Amino acid sequence: MKKLLFAICALAMCIPALAQFGQRAPQPITNGMKDTYKDYFMIGVAVNQRNISTPEQIALIKREFNSITAENDMKPQPTEPRKGEFNWENADKIANFCRENGIKLRGHCLMWHSQVGTWIYQDEKGNLLPKEEFYANMKHHIQAVVNRYKDVVYAWDVVNEAVADSPVRPGQPELRNSPMYQIAGEEFIYKAFEYAHEADPNALLFYNDYNECDPGKRDRIAGLITRMKAAGVPVHGIGMQGHYNIYSPSAEDIEAAVEKYASIVDHIHVTELDIRVNTDQGGALRFNQGETRQVASWEQSLQQDQYENLFRIMRKHADKVDCVTFWNLSDRDSWLGANNSPLLFDANYQPKMAMYNAVKNFDPAQDNIVIKEDFVPSTKNQPGQLYPMVNSQRYIRYRIDAPKATSVIAGSTVLHKDADGYWTGTSKTPADEGFHYYHLTIDGGTFNDPGTLNYYGSTRWESGIEVPAHDQAFYTERDVPHGKVEEVLFWSKSTNQLRRAFVYTPPTYDASKKTKYPVLYLQHGWGENEYGWSNQGHANIIMDNLIADGKIEPFIVVMTYGMTNEGFRPGAFGPTAVTGPEPPIPTATGAPAAVAPTRPAVPAPAAPAAGGQRAGGMGMMMNNGFETVLVDELIPYIDSHFRTKADKAHRAMAGLSMGGMETHTITLARPEVFGYYGLLSGGTYTPDELKDIKDIKGIFMGCGSKEGPDNIRNAAKALQDAGYNAKGYVSEGTAHEFQTWRRCLYEMAPMLFK
Ligand code: XIL
Repeated sequence: MKKLLFAICALAMCIPALAQFGQRAPQPITNGMKDTYKDYFMIGVAVNQRNISTPEQIALIKREFNSITAENDMKPQPTEPRKGEFNWENADKIANFCRENGIKLRGHCLMWHSQVGTWIYQDEKGNLLPKEEFYANMKHHIQAVVNRYKDVVYAWDVVNEAVADSPVRPGQPELRNSPMYQIAGEEFIYKAFEYAHEADPNALLFYNDYNECDPGKRDRIAGLITRMKAAGVPVHGIGMQGHYNIYSPSAEDIEAAVEKYASIVDHIHVTELDIRVNTDQGGALRFNQGETRQVASWEQSLQQDQYENLFRIMRKHADKVDCVTFWNLSDRDSWLGANNSPLLFDANYQPKMAMYNAVKNFDPAQDNIVIKEDFVPSTKNQPGQLYPMVNSQRYIRYRIDAPKATSVIAGSTVLHKDADGYWTGTSKTPADEGFHYYHLTIDGGTFNDPGTLNYYGSTRWESGIEVPAHDQAFYTERDVPHGKVEEVLFWSKSTNQLRRAFVYTPPTYDASKKTKYPVLYLQHGWGENEYGWSNQGHANIIMDNLIADGKIEPFIVVMTYGMTNEGFRPGAFGPTAVTGPEPPIPTATGAPAAVAPTRPAVPAPAAPAAGGQRAGGMGMMMNNGFETVLVDELIPYIDSHFRTKADKAHRAMAGLSMGGMETHTITLARPEVFGYYGLLSGGTYTPDELKDIKDIKGIFMGCGSKEGPDNIRNAAKALQDAGYNAKGYVSEGTAHEFQTWRRCLYEMAPMLFK
């Protein structure tokens, strides 16, 4: 309980900073997929009786869908279990629901080898009926159902699943060897369509099947429909059931199927879409498989990629695609069982936000982008490595050699095996300008991309990629005098450890033996360490360029480890610990990553650190003993080993993200030490917090435009109004990533030590 309270307090402390991370309270969803797809196709759902009689589920249906299919209630057996005995109750309820709510109804299905009363094709002894009798039964059934619902049903799946699965061996029939087929051959299919058309000449009539993207089955389906058309059968459309999984079919096979079908019919519906989190295919499904479990984030990425690809392809072919129907409302209703997690709504009818948004809130502009083939290797690659590459539109292309892998994800980009056996893929959207961490997720395991150098972030040495920026000159190496970044080791009594800092001294530092310099103590964030600012931040190059361009007077920059992961580390107290919010995971696109970084649990330190607080827990991140290390150990070390102006007016502290939070805490706790404060995506100061501190020389607060920049603007204004020398800065087009902080350093440096 204590731990929980502690975590809650710590969480409350973080709220201003979390706003900086761009996390916002979820907004109620007002429009649905049917609305965002209104210029493309209808969005349908298969329903059961519970769905249409439970108020919350009704509300969800009405918000999201404008076409309904009865999951079971209009099938041959449920509607006519015995010859001439019709049972309309459930079908009527669904039809009435559609009538009352103005929702279109897809009829499913008139003839199928499954869920059909055997009376239709065999006698009581189990002998197949003569063809004429079978046709009479079929006609009577089809016409009774079609007539009853013709005011509300706009399209029928007339025949379901009549084509044989792959492989079809030579000499075997291309159609399923069902009793119907045995009685009448292919002709029964033609007849079913004719009977339906006779009853309702206005209804669109579909042939519907699964494994419809398998090239062999696709061609057999196409062959059947072509023959039907040639014979003058009223077939108008092909239903692609769309029972897929996270590994297949490939986008290429889906698109090839759509194109093939579009060359034969004018109407294509995806009739039964679900994408399950396993390898099952078409007919051979395991239902409700696995224990109730959380779908791993990498599996979610594959699933989202599959959904995104499918909808992108369908939008591209919207001239022929009229409707995409999900098979069931939520995972709870799924015929596959909730443990296959196949749908956009979870077992509690809540949208799986990342996937739901990817489907619903697509960017139409992205659909029409032509990706330029001007990719060049990232400047952060290992020597001689071509991949990853970046193009002039800021798309990233990855290429990975992992011949036995079954899935490879680079950052948030799902890769696919190309003809050469390499896993390749291009980011779905342009990346933000600047530097991004990422790693590979291969069959669920975390690996670095051997193409790139490693950069410490997300508490591990990650792969990194550099996306050229319009303003990159300020951190680009030029032929100007360069300072030094040297590694210093200082003994820390409080932690009983040798600790490391990197010290930037300006180009002029060595030339004169007398000049003293102001010092900026510059902290990294939660995921980084003392290497970050000079490796991926290019802080030294930024300083050199600012000095060369006469924009600042030279000063020293000291970068040490903020102990952000000593003690505070999710999992440090075992699985029951409440660790509070985690900072967002940077991605190559600037969007929140689907794949969480690996954060290994570390044992909680045994003893309280001398002079500091006991390690561990959320509060560690602001109270981890770093204040003592920095102020009482490192600063004296620096002042005695470097030529510094060792007073408050010439000392600044700044930090990014959690380093900003440390800056906030330490500057307030030790008001006599620092004259300048900088928070880089790391929260804000209020005049109230500062009112008892004398001689604050300057305050800088910055963040990316994608991080909730209003907090920065408002906070800067409040400080300015209260008479402080305060600057608020917003980095356009960037998120919680190093490009924001590079720019922040560039903007902050000129206001220091003036
Ligand atoms: C499924 C239903 O969802 C289940 O409730 C029922 O037990 C079996 O049928 N292809 C089809 C659908 O055309 O009618 C099937 O629906 C799923 C496969």
